[in-house]
Amino acid sequence: MKVLVTGANGQLARSLGEARLPENWQLNALGRPQLDLLLPDTISKSFDRFEPHLVINTAAYTNVDQAEAEEELARKINADGAGHIAQICERHGIPLIHISTDYVFDGTKIHPYREDDFVAPTSAYGRSKLAGEQRVADTCARYIILRTAWLYSSFGRNFVETMLRLAVTRDEIKVVDDQFGNPTYAPDLADCIVAMAGQIFQDRYEDIPWGIYHAAGTGDASWYDVACETFIQSKQIGGPVTEIHPIRASEFPSPAKRPANSRLDCSKLDKNFGLRLPSWQVNIAECVRRLHNDKLRTSSDI
Ligand SMILES: NC(=O)c1ccc[n+]([C@@H]2O[C@H](COP(=O)([O-])OP(=O)(O)OC[C@H]3O[C@@H](n4cnc5c(N)ncnc54)[C@H](OP(=O)(O)O)[C@@H]3O)[C@@H](O)[C@H]2O)c1
Repeated sequence: MKVLVTGANGQLARSLGEARLPENWQLNALGRPQLDLLLPDTISKSFDRFEPHLVINTAAYTNVDQAEAEEELARKINADGAGHIAQICERHGIPLIHISTDYVFDGTKIHPYREDDFVAPTSAYGRSKLAGEQRVADTCARYIILRTAWLYSSFGRNFVETMLRLAVTRDEIKVVDDQFGNPTYAPDLADCIVAMAGQIFQDRYEDIPWGIYHAAGTGDASWYDVACETFIQSKQIGGPVTEIHPIRASEFPSPAKRPANSRLDCSKLDKNFGLRLPSWQVNIAECVRRLHNDKLRTSSDI
């Protein structure tokens, strides 16, 4: 089975690259030089060259704040780019797993969001991702849209990495404690995607309940909770630690407006695929350890 992954250098694609794959899988992760969502020609050439049986589209414009100033670019990548991928998948009869976000919701619901809840993004990034979902759903017969949230890993920029980096130079950090979501360890999501893809192949695409799914770490947290857990783990391995103070989002102005509640109800994924991601805390220790070790390795290289 040949699986094409877009966005090779991103957190999720790199986690897929490290995931334990079934023996008959051949995974080909393509970065921007080979497959650029802004250049439809590079997408079709990649399909022709690799002839995949499944596509996982992790590539996206992901800088939430910067997107406020670059909405058109975000839309071209996250909506038009996803649309091009979906078109080619449909033309070749290939299933598409497309990754989306909790930021399609406005955060006014009290309970966790279900897949069919009203969408109303509050940011340019959220609007571009929602438009991407719509393009995929309108174009492809066999699609899974996986909305995930608050990804962290030892790859690239993310909240856990930012906390540890800031702790090296700052005596204290203020962290928002009134926005709630589901922190998700990217390797856990990668394992979930591999398991889901396994079911898609096994059923030869026949009885798959295609559609939108929520897939995020179990349990919810505020950014402040995640920061606390990060430093608990960092302290245990002699990593950087600093003092943290909870603040309200209104005290931390940022270009993009983020939802106060973007918790996702993931029960549909459990019901239809028997899949559930681990609790968000479970792998922070591993993530912190890997970030710490990578840092030590880098600094000893210098
Ligand atoms: N990170 C989160 O907290 C979060 C939360 C909810 C949903 N999601 C979604 O989950 C997915 C994976 O996120 P992630 O954290 O793994 O993202 P990431 O680490 O920011 O990686 C995104 C990748 O997309 C690539 N990319 C950007 N523009 C591209 C283009 N025009 N053509 C091809 N590739 C392009 C980037 O390439 P370069 O390396 O060349 O820049 C980067 O490698 C995305 O769809 C994202 O929207 C993420």
